[in-house]
Amino acid sequence: MGINIALDGPSGAGKSTIAKEVAKNLGYVYVDTGALYRSIGLYAYRLGKKTNEASEVVPLLPDIKLELKYVDGTQRVIMNGEDVSEAIRAPEIAMAASNVSAIPEVREFLLSLQRTMAEKHNIVMDGRDIGTVILPNAQVKIFMTASAEERANRRLKEHLAKGQNISYEEILKEINERDYNDSHRAASPLKKADDAVELDTSDLDINGAVSAVLEIIDRKLNSLRPQRGMAPAVNRFFFTFVRWIALGLLRIVMKVRYEDLSNIPKSGSYIIAANHHTVLDPVAIGVKMNNISAYMAKEDIFEHKIAHALKIFHAFPVKRGKGDRSALNTGIEYLNRGYNLTIFPEGTRSKDGKIGSFKSGVSFIASEADADVLPIGITRRKTRLGRTFLTVRVGKLIPYYKLKVNSLSSSELRHSRDIILNEVKGLVDE
Ligand code: DC
Repeated sequence: MGINIALDGPSGAGKSTIAKEVAKNLGYVYVDTGALYRSIGLYAYRLGKKTNEASEVVPLLPDIKLELKYVDGTQRVIMNGEDVSEAIRAPEIAMAASNVSAIPEVREFLLSLQRTMAEKHNIVMDGRDIGTVILPNAQVKIFMTASAEERANRRLKEHLAKGQNISYEEILKEINERDYNDSHRAASPLKKADDAVELDTSDLDINGAVSAVLEIIDRKLNSLRPQRGMAPAVNRFFFTFVRWIALGLLRIVMKVRYEDLSNIPKSGSYIIAANHHTVLDPVAIGVKMNNISAYMAKEDIFEHKIAHALKIFHAFPVKRGKGDRSALNTGIEYLNRGYNLTIFPEGTRSKDGKIGSFKSGVSFIASEADADVLPIGITRRKTRLGRTFLTVRVGKLIPYYKLKVNSLSSSELRHSRDIILNEVKGLVDE
């Protein structure tokens, strides 16, 4: 199972607008389940059926085939081959949807489609019963509300913007009716799940609500991440000592400038992903960290005698280009023991100063270990006297849940890896 975020609440609380933004921010798929009920409402309405009569609606179900498609990240609902995404937004379809949604057979009919979406992708799913019935194991559940008057105001603005003529009173009446319908029906009524966080958006604008939701998600998903602590204290004491010596030696060989060191987490173990210029990059990074790091290093360097010294600093070999599972597992073990893990995902040093493509091992480890990634960009220049001058710029920690893949398919891993690559690129001067 991937990461499932369930967003429930009454109509007009802003769920879909907010869920869309939140999904975009997280890189998740947004599933608007209301659109499914609307599609069935539309089908029955077009045939002139009484949408509140189960005996008129249920026989239609075998004739309805629904699919969800994504075009530029936007959900489209395809009903029997027709894209009904716009048609289902007509005002008269809202009530038809509410009516058909009270029919248990309709809910049953839509259940597997919703669950399949949640199994295949990391999703933000909005609806009425997502946290209670559809995805009871969702990692994050949010119940979003707003006063009926505020919701009516918002709907009015939407309708006016589309040139649809409808009065505030009509909308308020419809909202109250739908609220009543949705929360009093016998089948999966609108109800806050016991473990859902309630968010009232009456006094929030869209940006405010999106931030509030992202904050709830971040708090919850961080609490679910393995809490690993730090590398053993004895080792850290030794490390502090070595760090000062290393920093002194480094300064003799090259000039290093650090930027945004405040982005370095004070504690915890995480992955450090950086681009690679010089053999001293690991030292330049390591001396500024609060925790000890293990280093994934290409196999060849362990052929030299110096390798024995590197092992004291928790360097371990990786066979490049071969999906070296045992090296990836060693990396995960280090994280589990509280160490940081430094990876140069290009796999080798850049010859021309440009960043090469990243190998996917970094996203494999991040996803398998649920580890956050600290991106670091290194820019190399020469001073006028020909000395090497490194700028080491620290980016913002990328939370593990933005990197988590659902299957370990190579395309998903590449996607996750590219998130890291783009962050690192943004930290390097051209
Ligand atoms: O969110 P919406 O306005 O598009 O939803 C249309 C109707 O569908 C709404 O009145 C309630 C119903 N619905 C539901 O019962 N369960 C869901 N998961 C989503 C919507």
